[in-house]
Amino acid sequence: MLKITYYGHSCFHFDFDGTGVLVDPFITGNPKASAVDISTINAQHILLTHGHGDHVADAEQIAKNNDARILSSYEIVEWFGAKGVAGHPMNHGGTVETEFGAVKFVPAIHSSVLPDGTYGGNPGGFVIMREDVKFYIAGDTCLTMDMKLIPMLCGKIDFAILPVGGNFTMDWTEAIHAAKFVECADVIGCHFDTFPPIVIDHAKVKQAFMAQGLNLKLPTIGEVIER
Ligand code: NI
Ligand code: MN
Repeated sequence: MLKITYYGHSCFHFDFDGTGVLVDPFITGNPKASAVDISTINAQHILLTHGHGDHVADAEQIAKNNDARILSSYEIVEWFGAKGVAGHPMNHGGTVETEFGAVKFVPAIHSSVLPDGTYGGNPGGFVIMREDVKFYIAGDTCLTMDMKLIPMLCGKIDFAILPVGGNFTMDWTEAIHAAKFVECADVIGCHFDTFPPIVIDHAKVKQAFMAQGLNLKLPTIGEVIER
């Protein structure tokens, strides 16, 4: 069974039968996530979509707490490596076999600079491919035609984690197209409500997804989703 915990903004934790995988930790700097204690997070692997602070802020601390390794772009893995954090570097099109399944790094259209100004390489998203579940984490991106390649290359996606807040990423109207491009009706929204420019009207957005035959979940911080 897969247990997904939402830690706010774009941060999700996946528990694959005891193996902890954390994506884009931005917790201590997020006032909305102040109830989350990062010292309690169990993660052997940390996936980072790109270098922006609202995705990597707590990665070093959580990696060191857990002796975890980082999976990300070559440049981001190098940057964390200099801080003593282990990692596995990737670039677009690459797939790595891990203890929790195959992880493919796919393109995103965005920017990627690390908190000290170091170039972070190209931003990306991930497709996690396991026997029991397959899902797409878009990362920060606009809608791209490349999303159509995901079901073509990876097969049927069970759910997709898509940004819906707009301004810095695609908005929810683009996310509706993205869900169709990846041929997946089950969407978990992220990158919404954290900052004033990305606040959304939950009822309206969910209704718009429903009208297109899509199911959108907008998790609350700390919420656990079991699938
Ligand atoms: Ni970003
Ligand atoms: Mn972001």
